[in-house]
Amino acid sequence: MRASASIDLMSESFFANPFPTFARLRTQAPVYFFEPFQCFILTRGADIEAITKNPCFSSRRAREMLGSLGVLRDDAASKEMLETWSRLVFFQDPPRHTLVRQLVMKGFTPAALERFRPRLASLVERALEKGRRQGEMDVVADFAEPIAINAIAELFALPEADRPQFMHWSKDLLKPTSSAVRTDEVRDSVRRTSHDMVVYLRDLVEKRRAALGDELISQFIAGEEGNPQLAGEAVFQTFQMIGAGFVTSTNQLTNTVLALLKHPEQLRALRADPGLTRGAIEESLRHEPAILSINRLCVEDTEVGGTRIPKGRFVHAMTAAANRDPEVFPDPDRFDITRTPNRHVTFGVGAHYCPGATLVRFEVEEALRALLTLPRWELADKPYNYQGSNFQDRGPSALHVRFPRN
Ligand code: HEM
Repeated sequence: MRASASIDLMSESFFANPFPTFARLRTQAPVYFFEPFQCFILTRGADIEAITKNPCFSSRRAREMLGSLGVLRDDAASKEMLETWSRLVFFQDPPRHTLVRQLVMKGFTPAALERFRPRLASLVERALEKGRRQGEMDVVADFAEPIAINAIAELFALPEADRPQFMHWSKDLLKPTSSAVRTDEVRDSVRRTSHDMVVYLRDLVEKRRAALGDELISQFIAGEEGNPQLAGEAVFQTFQMIGAGFVTSTNQLTNTVLALLKHPEQLRALRADPGLTRGAIEESLRHEPAILSINRLCVEDTEVGGTRIPKGRFVHAMTAAANRDPEVFPDPDRFDITRTPNRHVTFGVGAHYCPGATLVRFEVEEALRALLTLPRWELADKPYNYQGSNFQDRGPSALHVRFPRN
């Protein structure tokens, strides 16, 4: 399909409902060259899996990605930012990826997170206080954001007073990826944020090194000390986890609540049988994922689904589109909390599979458990929008919900 002008992948209305566009691409141009970003867009499940296995597609793409977003200048701040981002696990290929990934996975095992669950439940309860008291809340600002920031902050034992700063930094780091806010001001501020966050974390890591505890920064330091090849990684991978773990969780918590509100019969089924909670979480992850895509840089001419991809091009593999591929999911647009099997690719495929997947699932599970103690949920008469959403992070910027008592 060559009618690129008619394919919209950038507007707020696209992010509000990207699925008709994905369906059109999947049937008419499953490997589509998107002129405005000079990149390929994939929408078929099989092709998305294929690029994660094809070594012609690389995750070592920090320079090219920051460059394509216009973030890099010819100055010291840009050099420092590139040095930081090039170290993140997200931007590695094997064998370096395998090594750094072992460090990152420390503390993110299901057993470790199960021990964290009671703490998580109490964070959720605290976040619901306003909703319980006032019978209404903004699911984003009052509920999802406090859960997401405090969960990650507790795991890394970030000082309570600095958590608003981390929330601000995490949002800031993602702004240049949104087509709505690609201004010089935003690009300058992301370089500053990257610098400030690294300076803060270097200091924190040194303090922890002097008195190791059992939180994740200390565990990263211990892993680093056992292996000279990992020297310095505690700072970078803490930066990575905090940067990756806040907006994503916020959006998934909000998207799940909204999906259930939009499908009242499914919400009723869940109330009637809380045993369906895990199914509701997986279906929300499939149907309304917080992340629309994964991306790779093509480092050698290759081919996907019969289309030639030249070296140097980015490929955005739309995981959210693969989740609606009728070849894989019968009646894919139907939101069905009893769907089995439900092998969505929201957390990616293969070596880079999201290390935060269990944490997110637990957060949503505890959130639903608490929210379902409120007998009724209703969307308040306030509009919501998808301003600020992008391929990496999709969710409403506010969502006002009422909890009538009868
Ligand atoms: C619903 C929420 C989330 C979604 C949908 C999501 C999705 C993803 C996806 C698709 C990838 C693979 C990227 C690729 O293949 O290039 C990924 C990687 C990653 N995610 Fe998540 N994520 C979520 C939450 C989190 C959280 C809460 C954390 C941290 C606590 C986190 C940390 C990471 C990290 C560090 C990577 C890089 C792993 C690697 O490159 O090996 N994510 N995530």
